[in-house]
Amino acid sequence: MRHWTLEDIPWDAFDGTRVDPEILAVVKTASMVEHNSADYATYLNNIFPDDPEFQAAAKAWAVEEIQHGVALGRWAEMADPSFDFQSSFRRFAEGYRIPVEAESSVRGSHSGELIARCMVETGTSSLYSALRDATDEPVLKFVCHKIAGDEFRHYKLFYTHLQRYLAREKPGLPRRVLVAFRRFREVDDDELSYAYHCANLDGQTYDRKRAADAYLGRVAACYRRDHVQRAVGMAMKAVGVSPKGRLGRLAMWVVWRRFRRQTLQLQAS
Ligand SMILES: [Fe+2]
Ligand SMILES: [Fe+2]
Repeated sequence: MRHWTLEDIPWDAFDGTRVDPEILAVVKTASMVEHNSADYATYLNNIFPDDPEFQAAAKAWAVEEIQHGVALGRWAEMADPSFDFQSSFRRFAEGYRIPVEAESSVRGSHSGELIARCMVETGTSSLYSALRDATDEPVLKFVCHKIAGDEFRHYKLFYTHLQRYLAREKPGLPRRVLVAFRRFREVDDDELSYAYHCANLDGQTYDRKRAADAYLGRVAACYRRDHVQRAVGMAMKAVGVSPKGRLGRLAMWVVWRRFRRQTLQLQAS
């Protein structure tokens, strides 16, 4: 099936009166991170040197992620003509580097790496679903709908390759959960915080905690319970726990309560 292109986006339908500045700040941030995906393809190719099938898939994946960055950046420039996507991205890429020279996964194993990739695609598929449902601006709704579809497909891609490596490496459940949990905790590391800073706070001193709270507070405001539930289900499937079992239902309940509490704290700060 042909992948969508920038020409498929109905740019003429853009309605500046429907731009929400809080969502705009999130879109600018996401455009930075998405556009940085070429480095991730290099990293994945280095740590899967004996798997040409996966290497080819990772290269094709990165092309789609970079296109997400371009589409979001172009929309953000329409919504805010003072935003310069390329110069913001240059600042971000100069200040944030992923370990492209690594020869083994920073997650400790190939299956760990693929669980972490599933977690990232879980996060992005829920983010763009939430943004699509939160915005009234028709072009952004279209773009987020297209990107969300890609992110669900990316999850399936990494999940499929994960099954091969799980059969070979056989990590236990605690190990799988730990990798997933650690990757989840990285949402407040430098990548998103610094992307938010470069895209939204040009000229100010970088304050990681302030940037992380500003970003996560705006993102959380877009999420509804169904977005969180679907994400939790996908994360649990990636670590090999049935979301419909007793453990899965308990995790769903805990995550939703924690999400609500943190959202209220972020909105109050
Ligand atoms: Fe993406
Ligand atoms: Fe993706």
